[in-house]
Amino acid sequence: MTAQLETIAQAMVAEGKGILAADESTGTIEKRFDTIGAQCTEENRRDYREMLFRAHDAMSNCVSGVILYDETLRQKARDGTPISKVISDTGALPGIKVDTGAKDLAHCPGEKITEGLDGLRERFAEYYGLGARFAKWRAVITIGTDIPSGTCIQANAHALARYAALAQEANIVPIVEPEVLMDGPHDIARCLEVTEAALNALYAELGAQRVLLEGTILKPNMVLSGTACGTQAGVEEVAEQTVKCFQRCIPEAVPGICFLSGGQSDEAATAHLSAMNAMFDTPWKLSFSYGRALQAAALKAWGGKPENEAAAQAAFSHRAKMNSLATSGKWNTDVEKAA
Ligand code: 13P
Repeated sequence: MTAQLETIAQAMVAEGKGILAADESTGTIEKRFDTIGAQCTEENRRDYREMLFRAHDAMSNCVSGVILYDETLRQKARDGTPISKVISDTGALPGIKVDTGAKDLAHCPGEKITEGLDGLRERFAEYYGLGARFAKWRAVITIGTDIPSGTCIQANAHALARYAALAQEANIVPIVEPEVLMDGPHDIARCLEVTEAALNALYAELGAQRVLLEGTILKPNMVLSGTACGTQAGVEEVAEQTVKCFQRCIPEAVPGICFLSGGQSDEAATAHLSAMNAMFDTPWKLSFSYGRALQAAALKAWGGKPENEAAAQAAFSHRAKMNSLATSGKWNTDVEKAA
């Protein structure tokens, strides 16, 4: 069991590869579809995602795994092939989002706790049977006046660790995602402070729950200036502060760190990742697990129309290739433009 978890975790951060987060809940994908005027039907959700998973170049060269929503893991492609097989045929691993969302945390105004632990052992067994080899659980931490509280950081770290232990028991690699949101006027120093507190609490809880770190992947935010902060830190400062934070908090046994994009522009998410890999030699692989920053251009090119599939696949492949280059620090604006 231990060996399988380690092998899968290593495969998730194989050279030049990262993760495609395509696990938007129905409500979230509806918001994305609204931006292109597409109807949020089950068929359209399937067609859009099938289009991405059949982008062969991107999938076989740049994507190690895909995080799916429950509905997608159970769907069949237009030709009747299970979607999970469409993915595994490209060499990528199917994964599953298992949390049931962030809800208001009692006694903590403005803060969230992620739910989904009840019945999770049974759900993991079923997901394994459906082909999932890794999973994701996202905690949400908000920066604001007097928040986050220690209560919120602690409760979310505990839930992440309970989830991670259950995942490993089912032979599934847990992606642990403590997302510190980028919204707000806070500066980069405040983001560093909060991210550090969240990661310290997380690794303490993972230890307490006996989670095998070699069989986990961390999905963190980058250390950034708040979106409404008057002074925006540049690319090199973001790279420095993020890696400094990780050096303080993340054990070397963790095989890989796959960032969320969190609302950064496509190019900013790529530039930051590339700068980290160009500037630092780290004990963990630094890669991507982007949702919006991998899909935005493809979604726009698709526009809900079957005749645009090839153009949308080209847009996805381009973004995937740029992020693949970023995993070895080789992205720059020239390669972005040349392609
Ligand atoms: P974004 O990259 O769009 O933040 O999504 C990643 C994700 O899976 C959030 O849980």
